[in-house]
Amino acid sequence: MSERQENFPALLARLKPECERIIAQYENPRSALLPIMQLFQEHEGFVSQEAMHAAADMLGVTPAVAESTVSFYTLLYRRPVGKYVVQVCRGLACTINGAEDVMQAFHEKLGVGHLETTPDGLISYEEVECLAACDRATCAQVNLEFVYDLEPKQVDGMVTAMRTGAYAVAPRVQTEEPARTWSLPRLGEVARGRRSAGAIGTESPDNAGGVGDEPGIIMLDRIVERGPSFYDATRERAVQEAKDVVAVIEEEKGSRAAH
Ligand code: FES
Repeated sequence: MSERQENFPALLARLKPECERIIAQYENPRSALLPIMQLFQEHEGFVSQEAMHAAADMLGVTPAVAESTVSFYTLLYRRPVGKYVVQVCRGLACTINGAEDVMQAFHEKLGVGHLETTPDGLISYEEVECLAACDRATCAQVNLEFVYDLEPKQVDGMVTAMRTGAYAVAPRVQTEEPARTWSLPRLGEVARGRRSAGAIGTESPDNAGGVGDEPGIIMLDRIVERGPSFYDATRERAVQEAKDVVAVIEEEKGSRAAH
């Protein structure tokens, strides 16, 4: 167990009154999920599993609801990141104004790429969509503070200032050593292959993980096998869907054979 995990109960006890104050501001407690997650991130440097479970507990939702909400927002980190998070804009206005040269300068100076953290755990780097300051392109943010009209020649000085503790923006809290990337592999795998979770690990490039492919049929068969004692309505629908799926597949096979 890491030092951070050991210290989590104390952090939770310290933040609980603030969490309760936040929750009281909303008609529906669930609406407090994001500000509570931001609060934990401010103190942990990222949103830990422990934080998500504690928030779910306080708000009366399942941990899966907390995790799926957190995973939707790229400014909430589910893994530790650097004390400085550098985000360079790759939107159209910035790209036209030389963002690629700025990115290249960061890659060379930091020795890392998109969604990666330097080996010393100090600086995380990512390329982001339009930061809504197109009139000052090329833009970047360092710990969410804007840097406007950025040119490649400034990169060296920015990174040196971060490394020497002289950068104008305060470092983020860091309670756990970051890994090379904070991107979660399963999400990365889904994004790279453009496949749904049901298709991960299957060999066919045509398998999108939907109900009409092999894993989908296996899933339907399993539901059907559970018998009438298990979700009758689902079973009936599943039986019908399974029949429909088989019919479509047979039809498809027939038309392929005819050609
Ligand atoms: S394109 Fe970079 S701020 Fe809009």
